Amino acid sequence: MKNLLYAFFIDNVTNRCYRNCLEYFPQGSLILDVGIGNGIMVKEHHSLIRDKGIRIVGIDLNERYLAHCRELIREYDLEEHIRVINTSVEAFEPGNGLTFDYVLFSMSFMLFRDQAMVLDRVRKWLNGKGKVVFFQTMFRERSFWMEFVKPRLKYVTTIDFGKVTYEEDFYDLLRRKDLSVLEDRVLKREWYRGECRFIVAGSGNGVKGSA
Ligand SMILES: C[S@@+](CC[C@H](N)C(=O)[O-])C[C@H]1O[C@@H](n2cnc3c(N)ncnc32)[C@H](O)[C@@H]1O
Repeated sequence: MKNLLYAFFIDNVTNRCYRNCLEYFPQGSLILDVGIGNGIMVKEHHSLIRDKGIRIVGIDLNERYLAHCRELIREYDLEEHIRVINTSVEAFEPGNGLTFDYVLFSMSFMLFRDQAMVLDRVRKWLNGKGKVVFFQTMFRERSFWMEFVKPRLKYVTTIDFGKVTYEEDFYDLLRRKDLSVLEDRVLKREWYRGECRFIVAGSGNGVKGSA
């Protein structure tokens, strides 16, 4: 049931996100996908992952989602490309000096209680030119209605949608963590005034994108 609800609420957004990310990542990139979820994106994007030689280490604290993800990895023969680990971002250690080209938060960053601490952790796992990629729904203006509704959606859907992300707070957090925004694209505008945004951040001079 949990996977069916997840598929209903998340699939479209997920496919949009991963399509943009996978097209953005250069050939042969090594990605840490924080909160990979049930891996439903594999169904649509298996060829792209294989053709671009992309390798993904996916971590998630939900073993039920990961079991589904593993099934899809097997079904689409992607064992050489995707490896999943049942752990939280707070506990994960890459080990053996492993570093990543990109750390991806696809609809997971708004779920962390201590986002600053999570950023501190993941930055240590990036290689010299490594970047952090966020895909999330953001608001430019305060929405008290959304602040009330969003945290409560989990009681109806069993899916945690986390807290409302405001552009100003998010940009402020990146500034405090010395991360520049290198790219910021609106992928979709929602009827409730939220925007699905694709944001890339890293060290160096920020070049604000199209948002
Ligand atoms: C909304 S889902 C997004 C899944 C997938 N990335 C996508 O775009 O469809 C968020 C995922 O983050 C996972 N998650 C939440 N908190 C986490 C944490 N502290 N560490 C690792 N994963 C976490 C959840 O279990 C869930 O699978």
